[in-house]
Amino acid sequence: MGCIQADYSGKPVIAVINTWSDINPCHAHLRARAEDVKRGIWQAGGFPIEMPAFTLGETFQKPTTMLYRNLLAMETEELLRSYPADGCVLMGGCDKTTPALLMGAISANLPAIYIPAGPMLRGNWRGEILGSGSDVMKYWAERRAGNIDQQAWVQIEDGIARSAGTCMTMGTASTMTSLTEVLGFSLPGASSIPAVDSNHPKMANRSGRRIVEMVWEDLKPRDLLREASFNNAIAAVFGLGGSTNAVIHLIAMAGRAGIRIALDRFDQFSRTTPLLANLRPSGKYLMEDFYYAGGLPALLRAMAPHLDLTCRTVTGKTLGDDVTAAEIYNPDVIRSLDNPVLPSGGLAILRGNLAPAGAVIKASAADPRLLKHSGRAIVIDSYNEMNARIDDPALDVNAGSVLVLRNAGPKGAPGMPEWGNLPIPQKLLKAGVRDMVRISDARMSGTNYGSCVLHVSPESFVGGPLALLHEGDIVDLDVSARQLNMRVPDEELARRRAAWRPPQGIYPRGYGKLFMDHIKQADEGCDFDFLEGAAPIPEPEIH
Ligand code: FES
Repeated sequence: MGCIQADYSGKPVIAVINTWSDINPCHAHLRARAEDVKRGIWQAGGFPIEMPAFTLGETFQKPTTMLYRNLLAMETEELLRSYPADGCVLMGGCDKTTPALLMGAISANLPAIYIPAGPMLRGNWRGEILGSGSDVMKYWAERRAGNIDQQAWVQIEDGIARSAGTCMTMGTASTMTSLTEVLGFSLPGASSIPAVDSNHPKMANRSGRRIVEMVWEDLKPRDLLREASFNNAIAAVFGLGGSTNAVIHLIAMAGRAGIRIALDRFDQFSRTTPLLANLRPSGKYLMEDFYYAGGLPALLRAMAPHLDLTCRTVTGKTLGDDVTAAEIYNPDVIRSLDNPVLPSGGLAILRGNLAPAGAVIKASAADPRLLKHSGRAIVIDSYNEMNARIDDPALDVNAGSVLVLRNAGPKGAPGMPEWGNLPIPQKLLKAGVRDMVRISDARMSGTNYGSCVLHVSPESFVGGPLALLHEGDIVDLDVSARQLNMRVPDEELARRRAAWRPPQGIYPRGYGKLFMDHIKQADEGCDFDFLEGAAPIPEPEIH
């Protein structure tokens, strides 16, 4: 390694777990950023060791990064256990990377600090501001409707991702990096800094310095995490207008700290927490605007009555100490409690004979007219079938129909891909329809919007009632009553259940087989059953 004894002797060894890769544009700057981290570690008297880890690149990984979240969590935990690390810096940001790194670090329970990759710059097209994901879906619908041509589409593609960094809407990436900061794992304000702003390497440097101090202080993840930390994170999901994916990830992360979060807790917080961040897809602005407006510390200070500010953070102080000096510089981007974007109800947990263990809808991103709706089900069994049928002129569909996709859950797809915002049929797009009720056991990108009921549990692949729905059945959605039902008598459902045969899994061996044998359902966080809990694992012996 070329190190002399003075480089490392008596110094904390800091593992810099870096998910940089050529294949992951959201992390394109993390290779260079690791050097800023190391500079901080050296300066504070530590010994940095960079450890590359599996990158979960949302844009290219198939069938979905969610299939591999738990694999990166396992890799992180075992890197920290099997090599002589005293503490770690976790570098990631693209959607699943954040919960995966955190889950591994919580299980390893070594001092840990998180460096969020940071959002990319605002997109731009013909003078219009473009937001990741949200505007892809919006303009793709216009393209399919024939309202914009191929040249315009290519220009949109060229203008929407202008720099390294994660999606700059309040999608899953910014939701999860923000929640990581709320949970106490990042320096105050870190998650809001754009990836290419010069304050980002400064934050990386400060994080490198701080982790060395944390090792000497023996400040470990489970010293930070308590029930109230997760309640703060859940409240922050609603204050931010965050991604539905946060529901799954927070349940899984809490599980690693031995804390159980029931799905209904999200509904309780949703009913009482106002949406203050005016960010797409629920609002108007983008992450760059959020940073200039004061960023996450300003938002947390504004929503202080909804938080427990006594929770500790990586600073060694409390969340309250960390945000006390924060100010709002643009009150339209970060609203106050007396002028929220939405007073409450950003997300709802639904139950009923279609989803006995729960389903999720992001009400703030749906057409309000569809929040109470009954319609005839169009039932689709696979992604390929969806592609084959959805634009078929002969499809018997109208704006009041309910589009249903099944076999898209944790085991069904497998990996629970972001297929939940099924495309609107082309003939309806041409007629001006832009939202319909859609139901699936899949997830949806946090950057997307629409009246999409997601995470239906138990999923159809394991015999959840979604598997028993027939085309033409009437489905009733009532978000204010938190109900999702099919109008099918119990005796008929019993007949259908008796005739149902479980589908075959597609993995005879390998990681996919492990996944199928151990993945839990969406309402339980989709962790592997053998990874949950906080039972101590002995340190490997050194011989
Ligand atoms: Fe990586 Fe959106 S694709 S954060």
